[in-house]
Amino acid sequence: MVDDGGDDAANVASRSDTKTADDDDGGHHRQSRLFTDDDGSFDADRARDESLPVEDGEVVDTDDLAEHQTYLEGRGIYDERNAVNDLTGKEWKFATKSVIPEGYPPAVQHDLRSEHGGQKPPRLCAELIGRFSKVGDTVLDPFAGVGGTLLGASFCEHEGTGLRHAIGFERTERWIEIYEEVLERENEERRARGEPPLSAQELRHGDCADLIEDLDDETVDLLLTDVPYWNMDELEQTRNERETRASKLGVFDVDVDADAEADDGEDGAEGEAGTATEPTDDSTDERIETGDADDANSQTKAEWLADMAEKFARFATAVKPGGYIVVFIGDMYREQSYEFLSADLARAIDDAAPVSLKADLVWYDPTKDLHVYGYPFSFVPSMVHQHVLVFRTDRDE
Ligand SMILES: C[S@@+](CC[C@H](N)C(=O)[O-])C[C@H]1O[C@@H](n2cnc3c(N)ncnc32)[C@H](O)[C@@H]1O
Repeated sequence: MVDDGGDDAANVASRSDTKTADDDDGGHHRQSRLFTDDDGSFDADRARDESLPVEDGEVVDTDDLAEHQTYLEGRGIYDERNAVNDLTGKEWKFATKSVIPEGYPPAVQHDLRSEHGGQKPPRLCAELIGRFSKVGDTVLDPFAGVGGTLLGASFCEHEGTGLRHAIGFERTERWIEIYEEVLERENEERRARGEPPLSAQELRHGDCADLIEDLDDETVDLLLTDVPYWNMDELEQTRNERETRASKLGVFDVDVDADAEADDGEDGAEGEAGTATEPTDDSTDERIETGDADDANSQTKAEWLADMAEKFARFATAVKPGGYIVVFIGDMYREQSYEFLSADLARAIDDAAPVSLKADLVWYDPTKDLHVYGYPFSFVPSMVHQHVLVFRTDRDE
């Protein structure tokens, strides 16, 4: 990751190295004066309309840029030393936000992908891939499901700074079939709209603990994944029960049956916080992964954490020095108490793998309906967020 892609990245958008007419004595100030509003203050919108490079409310004099800086039209200043991603300074600044307040309406053959139940929005994955990798990098998802990460890596080609090569591992054949069908259907629709097709990525069938052995050490630039959950069997039952109850319970402002609410409040929240009567797209509170039922049946939480710790310690050896490991994980509400799974998992991975925890991003889906389980007897959160843990491999670069 460290050495790859810098030039490619800069080539993604057009360079603007052209000297202005006012070369030698602060053309930047003169340009600024040309774009003043009636009060004499700088009019950044006008300057932007004229396609002048504007950063932090001032026209950039491209002659003032350092050797390692390039102005990318419409995007800002790119620093050739950027070893993390292909973002310009202002894009990077935006990407440091610790909350991603974004709903993702059903898209990318959602009906097909939602058979999985734990799928992630491909465009959210693309956003994270853009933050933590460079064009041409290799992205690994060892728990790939129906391919949210893989599709995200392909979207980067057309909606980001360029294509990433993605490898996924998935042990349930059905999810692989769905990924392939999603890609086929999506590309038919794209062709019909005159858009270039999404690139196919590699989705390998098998257990990630075996498949990881086929990857050479330090060949992956970014690991982006969504872990299989603990206690899936109970969650699945809970979901069925919950859906039955949810139809009675409804959202808070609906007239509900008080007895049902008192009863269902605590029970209904068991297994996970929040409700998912009608997830929009790849919802923040789905936590049902039928593909995981076997393991989950026999795992305590401690065993689940130990399993994840062992797996991530092995995965980390495949990641290049200084590469990022980014993990989706939602907390859950179970047996009337809050399970802080994100914190537990962060600690387990941090202790077991040669990585450091760098961030806990929160994906907040503002479009989610709120549902009420505890009212008026106890507080049960409506989960409208998931955590995105960000680790970086510790080894020397
Ligand atoms: C949370 S889901 C991932 C969903 C994915 N992000 C998507 O967008 O579809 C976790 C996936 O890991 C798979 N899985 C669980 N344990 C596995 C293992 N040991 N090897 C390979 N896949 C596994 C499950 O079948 C499940 O599809």
